Parts: sequence; structure tokens; C-alpha cells
Amino acid sequence: MLLRPATAADLDFLAAMMLEACNWNGTPWFSAAKVRTDPKVWQYLDGWIAPGDFGVVAEIDGVSAGATWARLVPDGYGYVTDDVPELTLGVSPAFRRRGVARALLAALADAARAAPYERLSLSVDPGNPAAELYRSAGFRKVGVSGTSDTMVLEL
Ligand SMILES: CC(C)(COP(=O)(O)OP(=O)(O)OC[C@H]1O[C@@H](n2cnc3c(N)ncnc32)[C@H](O)[C@@H]1OP(=O)(O)O)[C@@H](O)C(=O)NCCC(=O)NCCS
Repeated sequence: MLLRPATAADLDFLAAMMLEACNWNGTPWFSAAKVRTDPKVWQYLDGWIAPGDFGVVAEIDGVSAGATWARLVPDGYGYVTDDVPELTLGVSPAFRRRGVARALLAALADAARAAPYERLSLSVDPGNPAAELYRSAGFRKVGVSGTSDTMVLEL
């Protein structure tokens, strides 16, 4: 597995991973088109890559397998404060359950520390298996937004 910084050229792949995150439980709530037209969702990628944005792409055998990225999102589901970037994470179905997400999260935390930021946040449905991944990576629940938990990692 190769981990590399996400660039502007990764926008379509990040949008595909955003779609995975929106439809995390297998119900197709979102289409690829709706990801780009729903302002609450597209705010995580609009204008990518903008100053302050950072992300990591995992490649396996030259194929993009998963990605995580973060930016300051004042109206984000996982908003905590103005200086805490919120991350999004997705792994393509064909590459799941082999440690891609765990590796991506560790690399994103390194990039956030280097930025430097002091914390990272996210929003996750408590029924999503990703919640256990986040807990085991050191994220702690700090609040609730709608039906989802807001979690924060101290860097
Ligand atoms: C959640 C997701 C990112 C996990 O990616 P992954 O590369 O398969 O995850 P990893 O292999 O690194 O697994 C890390 C941990 O996640 C948890 N996990 C991941 N998938 C799981 C599943 N299907 N069932 C139970 N636990 C799971 C486990 O705790 C796992 O640790 P373990 O392997 O020691 O048991 C991936 O399933 C995905 O993209 N889902 C859709 C998008 C999404 O939900 N994103 C998060 C939105 S908040």
C-alpha cells in the first residue's frame, strides 16, 4: 500500500469516497450527482484543494483504494470550533477489511500535526463500523449532531 498526499487531481476519487460515506449502510440515499449538488455534503470538497485543506490517498497496485481528507467546515456535521478541521473517510468496497482506513487515519493525523493543528474532528453514525475504528484510533465522543456522534482526536 502506498500512502500519498491528496491533490487537486484526486477530486473525482474523493467525491466517490464521499458517496461511500453518505451511503455507509448500503442504502443508496445519495447519488453521485447529489453529492455534488447538496451543499451540506459538497462543502467538504467544494474548491478542492484550497489553502488549509489536506488529505491522504491510499493506492494498492497503482489503484486508488481509499482516501481521507480534512478541512475547516464551519457548517459541518462534525464542527467543533473554527480551528479544528473535520475529516471525511472512505475506502472502496473492493479494498475493505485490510487495514486501509486505519493506515489512512494515522497518516492524516501526522499531516494534521505537521500543519500544525491541535485537533481533528468528525461526525459518524453510532451504528457505523467506522465508529469503532475511530475509537481505537484515539477519537473521543464530544457531542451529538442530529443522529450522529461528533468525535475529536487530540493530536
Ligand atoms: C469504514 C471504512 C472506512 C473502513 O475501511 P477499512 O479499510 O475496511 O477499515 P480497516 O480495515 O482499516 O479496519 C479498521 C477497523 O474498522 C472497523 N471495521 C471496519 N469495517 C468493519 C466492518 N465491516 N464490521 C465491523 N468493524 C469494521 C474494525 O474495528 C476494524 O478494526 P479490526 O480490523 O482490528 O477489526 C469503510 O468500510 C468504508 O469506506 N465505509 C463507507 C464509508 C464510511 O462509512 N466512512 C466513514 C464515515 S464517518
